[in-house]
Amino acid sequence: MTSSLQSPFQGAGLSEVQPTPPSTDTPPLTIVIFGASGDLTHRKLVPALFDLMVDGLLHPETRILGVARSPKTHEEFRGELRASVQTFARSTNHLDLFSEFEKKIFYHPMTFDDPNGYTAIRTTLLSDEFRKPTRGNVLYYLATPPSYFVPIIRNLGSFGLAKINEDTGETPAPFTRIIVEKPFGRDLASARDLNREVLQVFAEPQVYRIDHYLGKETVQNIVVFRLSNPVFGNLWNNVFVKSVHISVHESVGVEGRGGYFEEAGILRDMVQNHLFQLMTLTAMEPPVAFEAESIRDEKVKVLRSLKPVRIDDLPRTIVRGQYTVGEVDGVPVQGYRNEPKIPPLSDTSTFVRMKVEIQNWRWAGVPFYLTAGKRMSKRETLVRIVFKDFPFALFRLAGTPGTVPNELIIRIQPNEGIALRFGIKKPGGSLMIDPVEMNFSYQQAYRAQAPEAYERLLHDAIVGDSTLFARNDEVENSWNFMAPFLGDLTKLSPLRFYTAGTDGPEEQDRIGEPSPA
Ligand code: BG6
Repeated sequence: MTSSLQSPFQGAGLSEVQPTPPSTDTPPLTIVIFGASGDLTHRKLVPALFDLMVDGLLHPETRILGVARSPKTHEEFRGELRASVQTFARSTNHLDLFSEFEKKIFYHPMTFDDPNGYTAIRTTLLSDEFRKPTRGNVLYYLATPPSYFVPIIRNLGSFGLAKINEDTGETPAPFTRIIVEKPFGRDLASARDLNREVLQVFAEPQVYRIDHYLGKETVQNIVVFRLSNPVFGNLWNNVFVKSVHISVHESVGVEGRGGYFEEAGILRDMVQNHLFQLMTLTAMEPPVAFEAESIRDEKVKVLRSLKPVRIDDLPRTIVRGQYTVGEVDGVPVQGYRNEPKIPPLSDTSTFVRMKVEIQNWRWAGVPFYLTAGKRMSKRETLVRIVFKDFPFALFRLAGTPGTVPNELIIRIQPNEGIALRFGIKKPGGSLMIDPVEMNFSYQQAYRAQAPEAYERLLHDAIVGDSTLFARNDEVENSWNFMAPFLGDLTKLSPLRFYTAGTDGPEEQDRIGEPSPA
């Protein structure tokens, strides 16, 4: 297994280089996308596959078979995808290559419970036009609403599509894999049920549970930065760290996904998956080897070390918020309860701040604050490590502001980079300490535009590297911890309202230390 964290995308500024010749390292395959009419396919998956092709990371004999309910021809589907690629792909200066790309695209209309549809997919995959050039390799992608996951998985099992390649005797043996989109369940019981369903049909190594935050270059860098820099790696513990703040602020609202969001809320939409990924990568022990199973083992240990939250601890552990009418970037926006498909008295949180504790030798006593919010003043994802002060502040005696909290700020997005905050003597006669920042910016340091998260993850699934995907026990342990937060919180943590375009409800500072500015 190759280390997934060694980027296959290193290179010069992509906007300035010519398309790379097609890869012979990535295997040919058919990618069957269930949910081919959906937003995810149009905004993320197909643009990412196009970008992979431009970067030479897609085998020329790749086939993409879109499956969805709406009747349409291959040609109509290709036309729709052309528009998506034009709008959402990174490599828009190589749109001339779309004519090459569209030759790989096919469409199959069916409802996800229709047996004839699965028979037709089987016939297609086994046909000479698909089987020979792709050497029988298949990757299914579940990009549908979650309610279709189980019916599709069961049908893939019943129609022999999960084992379409078994016992062919070929070398290398063709692979069959499946990518399952988030949300993977909506609580522990449903995640277990889904895992059981998936694992009845596929073996665990065939299953890729996606969390696109793991595909972000800056998220992968959390581990690389910690484990390659002794000056920081040696301070990464409760002897030196006072608190850890992980925040994902979004300026967008629910973006036409009101029906889904009302069911999910920010805890299921962002915290259980994206924020927990950021937390486990920040907190995990160095793995015994830099490969999928060792890294996932360490992440699971963090989840298992989370101090369980008792129901009566909830008021001290979580603050929930919901946005009201306001303005974001000078544009008026409506309140959550006025968004389409949201009931007028909805109790769903669009903001949370939670305090969690990791009970192990490294982190005991260090609070981790997790904050996620929609319709905040700006889009900003940060991991902020606040270091402990000296036990005695010498300069305070001189009547100065004293010490400056030392902070390491990992900017995940946007303005990707890392900053270190410290104090210096302000030039001049009097003894004053000024806070200053040492700043690293990816944009300034590298001309190359980093690949999109979905490019990285699709590529990893194609080459069979599961490091950046969640294992079943990871998902189950995170839902297990979340259980007390998923019940009715109206009394224990009443909803606090905040104006859209601000930084969340004032009450958030009731949970432990205020968020650093
Ligand atoms: C998705 C959530 O998983 O992540 C969305 O469902 C959210 O609600 C999105 O907006 C954020 O992703 P990114 O990459 O824009 O930070």
